[in-house]
Amino acid sequence: MTPPEVVILRELLEHPAGFVSGSALAARLGMSRVGVWQHMGRLRAQGFAFEAVRSRGYRLLRQPAGLNLLLVQAHLRPRLRKTDILCLPEVDSTNDEAERQLAAGRRTPFVVLTRRQTLGRGRFGRVWHSEDNGNLYASFAFRPRVEPGRMSTFTLWMGANLCELVANFCQVPPGIKWPNDLYFGDRKFGGMLTEARVDADQIRDLVFGLGLNVNSPAGALPAELAARATTLADRVGRPLDLSRLTAAIIGRVLSAYELFVEDGHRDTFADLWNRFDLLRGRPVTLVQGGRRITGVAGGIDDEGSLLIRGENGRPQRFRAGEVTLEPG
Ligand code: BTN
Repeated sequence: MTPPEVVILRELLEHPAGFVSGSALAARLGMSRVGVWQHMGRLRAQGFAFEAVRSRGYRLLRQPAGLNLLLVQAHLRPRLRKTDILCLPEVDSTNDEAERQLAAGRRTPFVVLTRRQTLGRGRFGRVWHSEDNGNLYASFAFRPRVEPGRMSTFTLWMGANLCELVANFCQVPPGIKWPNDLYFGDRKFGGMLTEARVDADQIRDLVFGLGLNVNSPAGALPAELAARATTLADRVGRPLDLSRLTAAIIGRVLSAYELFVEDGHRDTFADLWNRFDLLRGRPVTLVQGGRRITGVAGGIDDEGSLLIRGENGRPQRFRAGEVTLEPG
């Protein structure tokens, strides 16, 4: 059942400028106006503030700035309102929590959100700094039951979808740096970490982790990262509504996943990727194991491998590795 607080928030968010009468809320919830008042008290305790005007009703005056599960649920589109979301004040890593929940048999899909990670991690086991500072830390858990080879473009597809969502949400175009980094210009604002457990010929389960720098203040990151990182708020010039953004991301990730496993993404993938590909046509160095390859990035192939043209002009394909952009 939808919590009454979520129903109240939905009604108020649908009338951002106007008032919603206490009797309309009571009718919507099937309870007395005193009951509505009690639920609004619970919302107040979470940092919401309301204006109550006699004979007009209620209006939302303030909402909590940090991640708030009730607000996320209130912003979800109708089709997604039953989405299973676990929202924790703190966790080691949302990817690890998702894996524990999968191992315990939780039904998929589900989402793990947190305000702070104590052991947030990125590719190559690097630390993902995850303070409680208005950023997004999320993991999405699935049981795709497809053969592992089908998943080679999964993170790339998700990244391109997220770029489109961020472009629409922020009105500032981002880019994706193969295979899992989200950028504005030459600064990183997000990263994806996909982890799968594979049976003999099938993916048993898959966790898609996403970290986005949304509202963290300048200076929140260690100095060596600060020079290469940015936040959505920084690019947009004002803090963003983290809960609304989170709801939009949940919607996009779940629909992109469905298209992907049904194989319905093939018609649009190349165009979407090319629209946000940060590397194409630019000089890059790729490090893979002990090898360093330099050349010009030439997009990706059907399997999601990065193409790099060396001096002889012939493209070489790379399934994995770390890319840096060279000046020039
Ligand atoms: C990278 O850029 O190397 C990927 C970073 C992925 C970070 C996210 S935050 C949510 C999820 N939980 C983790 O521990 N990592 C991912």
